Amino acid sequence: MATTLLMAGDALPEVPISLRAARRVAAGVLWIYSNEVAQRDPALPAVHLCRFVHGGRTLGAGYFNRHSLIAGRVLARGDEPDLAAALLRHLKEALVRRRPLAPGESSRLVFSEADLLPGLVIDYYPPCAVLQSNTAGMDLLVPLLVERLPGLVADILGARLEGLALRCDGSARRLEAAERFSRVCFGDPGRLAAAAVEEDGVRYVADLLSGQKTGFFLDQRENRRFLARWVRRRPGARVLDLCCYSGGWGLRALCEGAGHVTFVDESREALRLLQAGLEANRISPGRTRVAAQEVFEFLAADPERYDVVVADPPAFVKSRPNLAKALKAYQRLNRLAWQRLAPGGVLITCSCSHLLTPDEFLALLGRAVAQAEGMAQVVYRGGQAADHPQLLSMPETGYLKCAGLLRIDTA
Ligand SMILES: C[S@@+](CC[C@H](N)C(=O)[O-])C[C@H]1O[C@@H](n2cnc3c(N)ncnc32)[C@H](O)[C@@H]1O
Repeated sequence: MATTLLMAGDALPEVPISLRAARRVAAGVLWIYSNEVAQRDPALPAVHLCRFVHGGRTLGAGYFNRHSLIAGRVLARGDEPDLAAALLRHLKEALVRRRPLAPGESSRLVFSEADLLPGLVIDYYPPCAVLQSNTAGMDLLVPLLVERLPGLVADILGARLEGLALRCDGSARRLEAAERFSRVCFGDPGRLAAAAVEEDGVRYVADLLSGQKTGFFLDQRENRRFLARWVRRRPGARVLDLCCYSGGWGLRALCEGAGHVTFVDESREALRLLQAGLEANRISPGRTRVAAQEVFEFLAADPERYDVVVADPPAFVKSRPNLAKALKAYQRLNRLAWQRLAPGGVLITCSCSHLLTPDEFLALLGRAVAQAEGMAQVVYRGGQAADHPQLLSMPETGYLKCAGLLRIDTA
């Protein structure tokens, strides 16, 4: 990881940016693209803290990465004299915004750009937390964050942090030419690798050191509540949880009174966490079937019908060039998932691709259901949980879409 380079006020080197970038920063955009950087100083390190300037005016302070297409990220807008102070102020404000948290409640404490802390995610799984840096620039500030986080959690959330994992292993770091690793900052490694996470009374097991995301999909919390309401009114429902990971949806359904859940995921590691979650909730094996299988292979062979099908695949749209191919994959997945529904069943389907708009998502669902010659009512539309807010000036911070489609039969 790059070494810390903290400089106050005027000591921060200047990065001149174009007029277009200056206007965007003034309008609340925190990214400066590499072709908007007017001039680079070859004497400076490839990654450094800086002030962004245009026409003799400072637009903001943040960090610069010569290797990244998003070359500049703004941490403090305007003429901020002390970047470290701004970082800690934004961190405190993010924590205050998450209050009050119920005892034991997990939450995303910091959601990157949306909390004016570009490249930084902090997820809280009491009594532990994960600090995730997704950019080489944020890496410069990690030592200060690791030092201050326990005190801020104690002061603002009134809780003692007993373990902290540092995750610098996200795939986006490849675009930053940043090394990828994770490590324990403090606390028991065994506890961090098998953390107990509770959501609305359901127990999950999460690997905070090497599990997907920071270990758990906190962003689906509010969408899982729709599933809970649905299943509660249909005791004994048969559920299919596609791309289940550690069982976020299916475990919830079982705890709300579903009769049987079929879990499908191709990752053995995910299914190991699921198994631990099933045991933590004392679910009898007779209520579950676990398929370690590729989702399309499973759907091609499965003859069953379900009252609820959940489809929560990984982001198929990774970049604009692969949009058309990814749309086809979503459409196919949703058509096959729809075909597994019993009459009166509901398909709860998600996309976490930020390049796909909510309207495009609904449109592709429409095509999938039409292809299957079905009719659907949209009975639910959701997005990412409230602790993953979208910054209005940066639509890129909105990514998760969830829809509930009820099968209605017209014959
Ligand atoms: C977005 S995550 C699912 C999150 C999960 N539903 C939850 O609520 O915690 C996507 C999951 O899909 C799995 N996956 C990715 N590609 C797959 C495939 N082709 N077939 C089956 N599972 C796949 C991954 O292992 C991952 O667990």
